[in-house]
Amino acid sequence: MARVVVGCAFAVVIAMAASAADRPWIDRALSPDARAALVVKELTQEEKLRYVHGYYGGNLNGIQHIPQEWIADLPNSAGYIPPITRLGIPALKETDAGLGIANHRHMREGDTATALPSGLATAATFNPALAFEVGSVLGRETRDKGFNVVLGGAMNLTREPRGGRSFEYAGEDPLLAGIIVGEEVRGTQAQGVVSTVKHYALNFQETARTSISANIAWSAARESDLLAFELAIERSNAGAVMCSYNRVNGVYGCENSYLLTKVLKQDWSFPGWVMSDWGAVHSTVDAANAGLDQESAFLADSADFFGEPLKVAVAERKVSQARLDDMVQRILRSAFAAGVIDNPPQKAPTDLKRHAEIVQRAAEQGIVLLKNTGVLPLAANAKSIAVIGGHADLGVLSGGGSSQVIPIGDTPETEVPVGGPAFKFPGLGWVRQPAMVFDPPSPLAEIKRLARAARVRFANGKDIAEAVRLAKSSDIVIVFANQWMRESEDVLDLSLPDGQNDMIAAVAATNRHTIVVLQTGGPILMPWLNAVPAVVEAWYSGNRGGIAIANILFGTVNPSGRLPVSFPAGEYQLAHPEIVGKGTTTNPYAPGTVPPPVNGDAFEGADIGYRWFDKKGSKPLFPFGHGLSYTQFSYGGLKLEGGGALTVRFTVMNTGKRAGSETAQVYAVPPGGTAVKRLVGWARVELKPGEMRDVTVISEPRILAAFRENPDGWHLSAGSYAVAVGASSEDVRLNGKVELSGATLKP
Ligand code: BGC
Repeated sequence: MARVVVGCAFAVVIAMAASAADRPWIDRALSPDARAALVVKELTQEEKLRYVHGYYGGNLNGIQHIPQEWIADLPNSAGYIPPITRLGIPALKETDAGLGIANHRHMREGDTATALPSGLATAATFNPALAFEVGSVLGRETRDKGFNVVLGGAMNLTREPRGGRSFEYAGEDPLLAGIIVGEEVRGTQAQGVVSTVKHYALNFQETARTSISANIAWSAARESDLLAFELAIERSNAGAVMCSYNRVNGVYGCENSYLLTKVLKQDWSFPGWVMSDWGAVHSTVDAANAGLDQESAFLADSADFFGEPLKVAVAERKVSQARLDDMVQRILRSAFAAGVIDNPPQKAPTDLKRHAEIVQRAAEQGIVLLKNTGVLPLAANAKSIAVIGGHADLGVLSGGGSSQVIPIGDTPETEVPVGGPAFKFPGLGWVRQPAMVFDPPSPLAEIKRLARAARVRFANGKDIAEAVRLAKSSDIVIVFANQWMRESEDVLDLSLPDGQNDMIAAVAATNRHTIVVLQTGGPILMPWLNAVPAVVEAWYSGNRGGIAIANILFGTVNPSGRLPVSFPAGEYQLAHPEIVGKGTTTNPYAPGTVPPPVNGDAFEGADIGYRWFDKKGSKPLFPFGHGLSYTQFSYGGLKLEGGGALTVRFTVMNTGKRAGSETAQVYAVPPGGTAVKRLVGWARVELKPGEMRDVTVISEPRILAAFRENPDGWHLSAGSYAVAVGASSEDVRLNGKVELSGATLKP
């Protein structure tokens, strides 16, 4: 490690010693684009080719074919682009990912980081300012560990709630996902590092992820998944976009010129660079000409596409020199814009206390109280509490895969092996044993702390008879139920695994004060729902989740999270009752394997999640936007203004006895067509008992518009729009109609 520091410091000294005459790009008064262009002019062809060609960030037992001169500089992480030292251009040191600094695959013992709540949990806060703070935690830890590029935020809309990475993303709604992930990425980049928006696009499931084609009308994609990316990118000025493994309309994400060039670079004027997902490149000429700017880690691809082959392709003019220059220009301008060239990250201690406070607030605001018939909050004077299941004695559950953080406080005991061989890159050596990682502190310890006088006992829930015995002799039962999700594998169905449903049913039949705390990657089914008085959805709640859960249960914190995904009543309600390509497993890292294509028609088009339920007239178990509080709110005074834009004014009042936060949501239905509503905005308001607040929500025009192709553009219909204001997509409190004059907007 010491050698790495020396390498960095050397580059910095060189950079500082240079004069403005030698290196005109060090002039901070110039724009990032102008500065990048000056560097590009100085680069040799070899240097240009090198800056678009990535290595794994670790040495991987010496088989990565990395030139000796850079070995000492490898950051032991996801990716590495060597420096151009003679010009003071730093190496790009890329780390995973959106939920904290995650480099578990390289087994750096003791290298822990703050584990953030899952992406879905942050989305459930409906709190853009807090999402910015969460992103800032990620940005600071990226810097403090010496990285300058972070490979998060992740944001694929939840078209497939069984998708193994649903927990990383921000739910089913384009506006919510766009704003929340946009703010996270903005918060990250504000710390002086580059952040990446991924996986572009329609990468909504893991089954057959390297071969599946998400087939969808482009107009529908523009109104849904692509709109979410558009909103996040324009809000955050993300420096990089990662193209995805899957195909979209038959063409791989990383060689899809419609997605990469037409939409991203032309229509959205994205100035940054497109990097490939690890193993997502399949060609040289097609990928380069379609708009891929950097092959992230050639060893992950089935061949080395941007090394020697790109050099040859440029020499033979199959890829233009201008395209190669543009690739480098895009990378450099984002590096200048983020500040990583002017102010390179240096390893430094992190203010972990400050970060713990932020992630605790995020967990507390993201936890959703789904059901409560009065048992919550728990009275501090309950005499005996049984805590059952979910490894609640270890910590809170986290999701697996490249986003897996080894949390602060990790010990061998807080990792529960899931069996099977250690996770391995073919041919690259052994890495960790696959394990469910629990983030300390444990909810059990925190419940004990807040329960004061109560006797708190724990059973692991595996033996149903033991759980029932404990439930029988306790006043209150808190069951923790887990659904573990991980990258590269979808869950087979939406049922809680490992007999947990039977355990909950048996315990609830014994003790009618049974509260279920869910730790899931996304929606699940609840066959026992009628038998329990309270259900709390805690998601994967991160390094302070144990404290947050206890605070919610005991009412130290009033719950305020809202569902960023619909919970269906059964899989029959989903657009795909069965996962497309079920049974197809693909290993993105296996060189030379190109699995057969799977037809992944996105049947629901743009109408994902609650819109799909609207379209079908079906009733979910819990709707999008749902979440209870320990107080109550009333709504009134609806005033609508139409014309060119929709403005919605109303009041919200706390009519209960506790202070609390309401997330008032505004939905609208455009004229004509089917009665499918769209979330056009929301306001999260904190109110003391009896307090009333005026709220104004102005709609984002693209949400209400239709995207039409040839010529491309957004069309906002003239006519009468139905507006619904309420506490969820189903719990409508105020209704109205308003005339909009209609408009055509540029794509
Ligand atoms: C994942 C990406 C990740 C990359 C690098 C891939 O398997 O899909 O999200 O950033 O690995 O670790």
